[in-house]
Amino acid sequence: MGTLVARLRLGVLISGRGSNMQALIDAAADSSYPAEIGIVISNVPDAGGLALAAARGIPTTVIDSRPFRDRRHFEDALDGALREANVGLVCLAGFMRLLTEHFVGQWWDRLVNIHPSLLPAFPGLHVHEAVLASGTRFTGCTVHFVRPGMDDGPIIIQAAVPVHPDDNVERLAARVLEQEHRVYPAAVRLVAERRTETSADGRVHIHSARVPTGALINPSVD
Ligand code: GRF
Repeated sequence: MGTLVARLRLGVLISGRGSNMQALIDAAADSSYPAEIGIVISNVPDAGGLALAAARGIPTTVIDSRPFRDRRHFEDALDGALREANVGLVCLAGFMRLLTEHFVGQWWDRLVNIHPSLLPAFPGLHVHEAVLASGTRFTGCTVHFVRPGMDDGPIIIQAAVPVHPDDNVERLAARVLEQEHRVYPAAVRLVAERRTETSADGRVHIHSARVPTGALINPSVD
């Protein structure tokens, strides 16, 4: 019999279809994965991801921000639900509300986000449009610890993908999303295994990281 180690409990915050949430649920379905989903919270009452989570037997809650007097009261409700569910790590997965410095401070280094670009390039919305307009040959996705600025914070893991000359937003988004679904569970694993260490200057050191060698060149030269 193996030693029983408590799995890190995740609170996943969504606003939409929840495909990254689904990737985390799928990873956690394996009992050897070091994290489990404690609760899924949506600020959007009809977010598609809610049904997906419920179908997998995961507790879900809607905390609609609209009835709250201000952001602080909304976030107090969020914080309460996360603590009630004994969450140790909050995962933003297409959660479309900016969080205040106060909330980020309460969950410092226990709050991660996935963003569909190679941060710090292309933060914010309409990322793939901006990538295509820029002519850059590579893009990708990033999982990072959350700091109060938009899409800001220490980077845990990134995946790079090429931009193709005939790409449109849908094709590019799909290529990036496929990698999002790989790196989000991988990043959460690193945090759950306590292999991440954030330095004061905002960089993450990964213990026993395996680093790829070689370069990607686009267009290819050989
Ligand atoms: C993803 O592209 C994620 O990177 C961004 O919002 C999108 C959410 O998609 N933050 P989904 O709801 O996880 O399918």
